[in-house]
Amino acid sequence: MFARRTEWNLATNRYSLALEEARRNGRTLLDLTASNPTTVGLQYEGERILRALQHPRALEYEPASKGILPAREAVAAYYAERGVQVSPERIVLTVSTSEAYSYCFRLLCDPGDEVLVPSPSYPLFEFLADIQDVKLVPYELVYDHGWQVEFESLRGAITPRSRAIMVVHPNNPTGHFTRAWELERLNALCIEHELALVADEVFLDYGLTGEVPLSFVSNRGALTFTLSGLSKVCALPQIKVAWIATSGPSDLVRTAIDRLDVIADTYLSPNAPVQWALPDLLATCGNIQQQLRARALCNLRVLDAHLSSARMTTRLELDAGWYAVLRTPATRSDEDVAITLLEEESVLIHPGHFFDFPAAGYLVASLIAPEREFRVGIERALRSIDSRS
Ligand SMILES: Cc1ncc(COP(=O)(O)O)c(C=O)c1O
Repeated sequence: MFARRTEWNLATNRYSLALEEARRNGRTLLDLTASNPTTVGLQYEGERILRALQHPRALEYEPASKGILPAREAVAAYYAERGVQVSPERIVLTVSTSEAYSYCFRLLCDPGDEVLVPSPSYPLFEFLADIQDVKLVPYELVYDHGWQVEFESLRGAITPRSRAIMVVHPNNPTGHFTRAWELERLNALCIEHELALVADEVFLDYGLTGEVPLSFVSNRGALTFTLSGLSKVCALPQIKVAWIATSGPSDLVRTAIDRLDVIADTYLSPNAPVQWALPDLLATCGNIQQQLRARALCNLRVLDAHLSSARMTTRLELDAGWYAVLRTPATRSDEDVAITLLEEESVLIHPGHFFDFPAAGYLVASLIAPEREFRVGIERALRSIDSRS
């Protein structure tokens, strides 16, 4: 009765079973997997956000396929503040970055076509691709004094069915930015093989080193779809607005926009109150981003202080984002390590395989966890890893 594309293995894995058990037993956990910014003790401009959602024009229905113009202008202004010019005509609103991916896949891929995705990276992509009948083909990121694209692996993964290369900038969870030389090579590959670039920039504003990153919105080489949205830009995952900004050779951009317009017109997903609220909501992003960067930097300092006396754990370099990758002995699977930490130390931390790390020996810790929880959790985790190695 059901489509093969939904034949997922929905069995609960060992780690989730251990977590369910801990919660059933009422254990208080130190959560180093926090990714929901609304639950980590930030000071939101609550009144301003709620007021924004009460725009009187929200009572009117205006079916605008790409989204209402003032909302798209606000997105263009967001990029202008980052030194990038983009016409509102090249912006299409969606309810989430996930929906933006589905529009791009629908635009670019017939069933069975392939999209190249970085590995390690964010696990939701697998489901997004399955639902759209797209096949994800991984290409490697390598760590060697910082992360970078392994271009031989990328080139080798291209087939006649390839339609796009995905880039997560900065990547989640590795936290590295794509460099200008990498973008140049990505453009060359895309042009040679008639591929588009799909750039996920949801964490673009969370640089932790002072580096001002490039935005793919300014990319002119290949046809480029840059995706972002309020869930990370304003730390408001409950207010569903995101966007696709299209750039590249103008003939390809024109065709892409015309077709995206039809896809968007078919659904008309973003609702009026959030579209009218978008300019005011984007105006709150500076404050919340500052809090999140301060939190991440504080937790990073605490982590490094504890690591200086840890024997068996190091951390990988990062440029940006909400996560730190820890390198632990690969003598046990990272699922085993995470389950031990959960059961014996009440510390919740992501095993690396969740993000498709190529081997055992990686854990991923959230840097946006509340400071005290992070400090105690990391201290316990590192001590436990040392004592078992
Ligand atoms: C890299 C990346 N892209 C996209 C998303 C999903 O964003 P949205 O909530 O806008 O669908 C996430 C969520 O964590 C993410 O980490």
